Amino acid sequence: VTPVPGFPAPTTHSQQAYSPFDTFTSRWTRADARQIKARSDPNVAVGANSMPTSVTMPDIPADFPQTNPDVWLWDTWTLIDAHANQFSYNGWEVIFALTADPNAGYTFDDRHVHARISYFYRRAGIPASARPRNGGWIYGGHLFPDGASIKVFGSTTLTNNAEWSGSTRLLKTDGNEVAVFYTALGFNRTADGANVAPPVAIISKANGRIHADLNHVWFTGFNNHTGLLQPDGTYYQTGQQNEFYSFRDPFTFEDPQNPGQTFMVFEGNTAGERGAKDCTAADLGYQAGDPYAEDLDTVQNSGATYQKANIGLAVSTDSSLTQWRFLPPLISANCVNDQTERPQVYIKDGKYYLFTISHRSTFAAGIDGPDGVYGFVGNGVRSDFEPLNWGSGLALGNPTDLNTAAGSDFDPDPQQNPRAFQAYSHYVMPNGLVESFIDTVEGRRGGALAPTVKIQISDAITQIDLSYGQNGLGGYGNIPANRHDLDWQGF
Ligand code: FRU
Repeated sequence: VTPVPGFPAPTTHSQQAYSPFDTFTSRWTRADARQIKARSDPNVAVGANSMPTSVTMPDIPADFPQTNPDVWLWDTWTLIDAHANQFSYNGWEVIFALTADPNAGYTFDDRHVHARISYFYRRAGIPASARPRNGGWIYGGHLFPDGASIKVFGSTTLTNNAEWSGSTRLLKTDGNEVAVFYTALGFNRTADGANVAPPVAIISKANGRIHADLNHVWFTGFNNHTGLLQPDGTYYQTGQQNEFYSFRDPFTFEDPQNPGQTFMVFEGNTAGERGAKDCTAADLGYQAGDPYAEDLDTVQNSGATYQKANIGLAVSTDSSLTQWRFLPPLISANCVNDQTERPQVYIKDGKYYLFTISHRSTFAAGIDGPDGVYGFVGNGVRSDFEPLNWGSGLALGNPTDLNTAAGSDFDPDPQQNPRAFQAYSHYVMPNGLVESFIDTVEGRRGGALAPTVKIQISDAITQIDLSYGQNGLGGYGNIPANRHDLDWQGF
């Protein structure tokens, strides 16, 4: 990659694969992440999109439909096998989503502490063009029985608990047993929302069964919830080290290069005391003599040390996927970004992609980029990952003016692009389809499924496919299965 004039060169990443059990952790460096701003046009009209079209999600219309007027939904995932194939069950497509009640007296921004996992279903095999505009998902209700997920906290004092993101596995494609991997969150807070104790995040599992007849889909089980992992403070930061730590969003998979093992990626932070000034020259990642390199002390004193995300790895040590062991993180983003959320492993043409979602607001001082999907490519699950697209990591961002203050979804800057927070929590599906939820479009809040878009993925380059759907926007909530369970005979 030839550096953009005025900007540093990205770090050289070989894509070389290591054993998943190796101690090598790849770095998304400041030199890498500064390639995002390098590709931003400094001369666009205020509030326009300053990023290249190829890495921008097209504009979502402000008259988007609600998925269901009686439920807010956000992070959404599908029923997958060990290789992220998306299964329908008995002719029904099924999705899982974090949900909250829009009529319960709290705001959309306060939804997180009330999150419950719900499921939705619709008939498989119908083209998006023949579905209702909102995608036609039928709300099935909460997935877990009331009072079940709080049990993983035992006798810990909590003021409330929530169910945060994860993934759902169809354990055998000729059976109906499913395992839900999710994040159990426990809060102990004052009435004003201040922490009495740091939130407790436990990556957890509950098993259940899916059922379907000609009219509907339902689940049984999920009474027993097992805590699988809590941060160790060595690789993964604990609540005691930083009350604002992230530890969540488990995604399990098998690796064709390491058959017989089940792995999990998840969102973590680099262990250590909050803000510790321990970023290194390797985290900065500049080439020797780069005239645009930064001084390590200056970076450490800029506040950037409060942002230290990682993407974690764990391996299961029993066949029921109940026992897990931490492995060193796959990627760290020390002094770069504080949140690498909902990570997923995506294998295509022999290449391993790590996709993750992140926010403009969680980038470290001196680094900027839009809300959206970020991605990294290597030759194995653990690699010296190369950040996608000019070495930057940006795969698909919201339309954003990086020359103008960020504002936020709940307090927009009037000058900022009114779609800078249009969608979030993107998940890359088979064939490069990308689903997400709508947050804010021109000040209208969402809580609904966004239009599905498509990206072309080839080695270290991804590009939005503007020939997909209408100018790149497919159906709202178009989340198709690419496999059918083996029992289905057709309706
Ligand atoms: C992403 C996210 C996840 C978390 C959930 C909580 O949108 O922050 O990391 O599980 O939302 O609502």
